[in-house]
Amino acid sequence: MTVAPARSYDRSDWASAFVNVDEELTDVALTPVRGTVPAELQGTFYRNGPGRLERDGHRVHHPFDGDGMIAAMRFENGRVQLSNRYVRTEGWLAEEKAGRVLYRGVFGSQKPGGRLANAFDLRLKNIANTNVVRLGDQLLALWEAAEPYALDPRTLETRGLSRLDGVLNKGEAFSAHPRFDPGHNGSPCMVTFGVNTGPRSTIRLMEFATEGPEAGQLLHERSDTFSGFAFLHDFAITPNWAIFLQNAIAFNPLPFVLGEKGAAQCLRSKPDGQAKFWLVPRDSGSFAGQPPRIIDAPEGFVFHHLNAWEDCGDVVVESIYYSDFPGIGPDEDFMDVDFDLIPEGLLEQCRIRLDSGEVETTRLSERCCEFAMVNPDREGLDCRYAWMAAAAREQGNDPLQVVKKLDLQTGERVIWDAGPRGFVSEPLMVPDPSTDQEDAGWVLDLVWNGARSASDLVILDACDLSEQAVLELPLAIPHGLHGSWAPQR
Ligand code: FE2
Repeated sequence: MTVAPARSYDRSDWASAFVNVDEELTDVALTPVRGTVPAELQGTFYRNGPGRLERDGHRVHHPFDGDGMIAAMRFENGRVQLSNRYVRTEGWLAEEKAGRVLYRGVFGSQKPGGRLANAFDLRLKNIANTNVVRLGDQLLALWEAAEPYALDPRTLETRGLSRLDGVLNKGEAFSAHPRFDPGHNGSPCMVTFGVNTGPRSTIRLMEFATEGPEAGQLLHERSDTFSGFAFLHDFAITPNWAIFLQNAIAFNPLPFVLGEKGAAQCLRSKPDGQAKFWLVPRDSGSFAGQPPRIIDAPEGFVFHHLNAWEDCGDVVVESIYYSDFPGIGPDEDFMDVDFDLIPEGLLEQCRIRLDSGEVETTRLSERCCEFAMVNPDREGLDCRYAWMAAAAREQGNDPLQVVKKLDLQTGERVIWDAGPRGFVSEPLMVPDPSTDQEDAGWVLDLVWNGARSASDLVILDACDLSEQAVLELPLAIPHGLHGSWAPQR
């Protein structure tokens, strides 16, 4: 038996990122402390994540309950400028005015005053903190349980809640994980969904134009209802399918209603439950109009998928699996979390045989990882390479400290290590537009630098992960969630 080496990080460095962002900067020039910014990078790197974690001495119970704060790093001719703004959500504005916490959070944050103050307050605070994407002339700050907030892509000024020109109903769920189809069935488009769940779950699948004068317009939509509760954070696409994984999860809302827990703390794995793949035919694909395929899925819990593709009638989907649903209970403090006691995320591939309904599962890597992506120009196709955030150790659960490039054919990997005092976030692969080489381009990552208690923008070569430039931000941005790259127009 091999014994994993001791971890290389100091927990206080990791925890030091959980601070409020108190400043909003506008077009602050960033200078590399090492290297040179590639002049070919022309566009904006947007990141979203919790920026406000404490108010009036009252800290969130889970960082996912923090108010959304957008950071934008604009690349132009080898120079980078930083701006950041909170999303002016209705809840953020009300709490700013009151100077105290007025809302509960989905992940267990409670209003001051204990159970009595929280019982039967079932209002949702749309915190717009999960992802940020460009759609037409809007920047959308996404939070999956409600409509997006629209922002000005240049100034980050909040325009307000958006129903996308009447596509969405008031309060309608809208995923924070859109997938961008690079043009498998014609023009490029954004494929996304909303889910309305309960004893039965209805998925509304939507495809929006992303280019030309139609950008932002709805091209296709369909709704399908499935039996059972569904917690669907992410999905995957191929040219013909939208692929959802219904985890074997149960939801008991009573502790939420009674003010004891947040809604997400009421989710529990069902040991005797059966996970399902739901494959919904895309309206732009070969199986348009057909009913969904429902196929038994392996055990485990998935937040995020890497990619999916079609192969000789099979659908292959790659996902980050946890052995159980990782949550933070009402009596636990997220700053004190014992990484050894929570399951790690492991990349696995499921080959779904549509003719027989059988699924073959293959472990692609033994190293704990999250936030994985392929070259976005090859989304939905068989890809050779993936980029992800991973732990520094080969085995075991730790904070994410390295960027990893994995060769999905050979298993070879390349590592860029931010440790021992750096902690990576979701790496974003930006393809080099001058070539079709799959791993040509750059990887952008916002790194928490524990040595100076602030954030660094790191630019790597996507092929060998060699460091191209490091820029120190005059800003401390807590560990974030998702982001995107918008090429200069
Ligand atoms: Fe996510």
